[in-house]
Amino acid sequence: MTGNAKLVAGGKDHDYPVLAGSVGPDVIDIRKLYGQTGMFTYDPGFTSTASCESGLTYIDGDQGILLHRGYPIDQLAEQSNFMEVSYLLLNGELPSQAELEKFSYTITRHTMLHEQLATFYRGFRRDAHPMAIMCGVVGALSAFYHDSTDITDPRQRMIASHRLIAKMPTIAAMAYKYSVGQPFLYPDNKLSYTGNFLRMTFGVPAEDYVVDPVVEAAMDKIFILHADHEQNASTSTVRLAGSSGANPFACIAAGIACLWGPAHGGANEAALNMLREIGHPDRIPEYIARAKNKDDPFRLMGFGHRVYKNYDPRAKVMQKTANEVLDKLGVTDPIFDVARELEQIALKDEYFVSKKLYPNVDFYSGVILSAIGFPTTMFTVLFALARTVGWVAQWNEMISDPEQKIGRPRQLYTGPTQRDYVPVGDR
Ligand code: SDX
Repeated sequence: MTGNAKLVAGGKDHDYPVLAGSVGPDVIDIRKLYGQTGMFTYDPGFTSTASCESGLTYIDGDQGILLHRGYPIDQLAEQSNFMEVSYLLLNGELPSQAELEKFSYTITRHTMLHEQLATFYRGFRRDAHPMAIMCGVVGALSAFYHDSTDITDPRQRMIASHRLIAKMPTIAAMAYKYSVGQPFLYPDNKLSYTGNFLRMTFGVPAEDYVVDPVVEAAMDKIFILHADHEQNASTSTVRLAGSSGANPFACIAAGIACLWGPAHGGANEAALNMLREIGHPDRIPEYIARAKNKDDPFRLMGFGHRVYKNYDPRAKVMQKTANEVLDKLGVTDPIFDVARELEQIALKDEYFVSKKLYPNVDFYSGVILSAIGFPTTMFTVLFALARTVGWVAQWNEMISDPEQKIGRPRQLYTGPTQRDYVPVGDR
């Protein structure tokens, strides 16, 4: 405890402890507020609410800082790899070479799916959105892996965590293959986590698939940039589902469903569709005007963030990666020119400056994913693939937190007060 906060409510003084973390805003511990005052706090969207204590990811929205277990995201993106960042998020420390090899070996040997899960795909229409398939197939994992659903058993929690991280690339690649009518490819344990995903997605049984190191490195960096992000909407969904004791596969399926929304993970698909709709820098002013028009629901997708009121540090790395990938792949995409021009115009526009709206992680990712060959419908699937390690790490942290209990918010009730039933003949 670092101090005291005084609240005058109902004509009485109430003191609440102020708790300090290792960095970032202090919190006022109001757990006794309702018992002492008979009042709730009111915070729709949880803009001023800390839902938990966590040591995983720290974000400073004003400074544009993102740390995973203390390590800055730009250093991890430039010097680490997704398997190592996954180990860091799950275990709290960077692994030794031997620890990393053991972890990668474990994950690699969980990449295959139960063969009957392939039949789930054939129940979907070929034009089903891949996120709909992800929600269904990931939720169905709990019907196949009964030996890792007991959340009170740390060993089962670990196996379920490894299975989810390992199987998401296989599930995602199969969703893409199903949508294009090509056969599924089994995982190839000789390849890296990311290389294996690329081969299962873009390879065909008719010929060998050679992983392009440029694409593999860009994809791996994109996975790192999406791995975890404090208590965002989908992570909070996973935590809330997990707080009831639901099995880990059901919790991650809930997180996938939440991520799908265009205000959250669905923004990368929406941002690229928006850039395509704009089509040419000359049309940017029209869309800037729409984004500023209160009567128009249109928002500049890939811009703005609940926490970042400065540049999203992930967007900076993403823009640099987009440049690199387009250059190395020799792809000239007019969409990228529209994105860079739109960013320059928006960052000088009073509306965006005053509201501190900067590009976020979703603004440039679509340019890279499109250059690699993914359809826009796969963009949020890739976000979910990468975020699974963050969801799993946050879920494990919550389950191990001695203070955690089932999440059950209250409300400000504004509906009718009690009244007697009126039979239909008397209405
Ligand atoms: C992700 O939480 C996370 O960490 C999420 C994420 C993660 O890694 O998990 O970072 C991933 O979801 C990134 C965000 C992707 N979403 C988008 O790019 C969609 C477009 N952005 C907006 O929908 C919006 O910025 C949000 C949802 C991201 C944030 O919304 P907030 O914090 O609720 O802010 P707000 O909607 O109250 O906006 C504040 C003001 C409003 O104007 P006023 O009512 O004050 O007049 O800014 C305006 C908004 O109208 N505004 C925008 C805008 N974003 C906010 N105006 C135009 N275009 C935009 N993009």
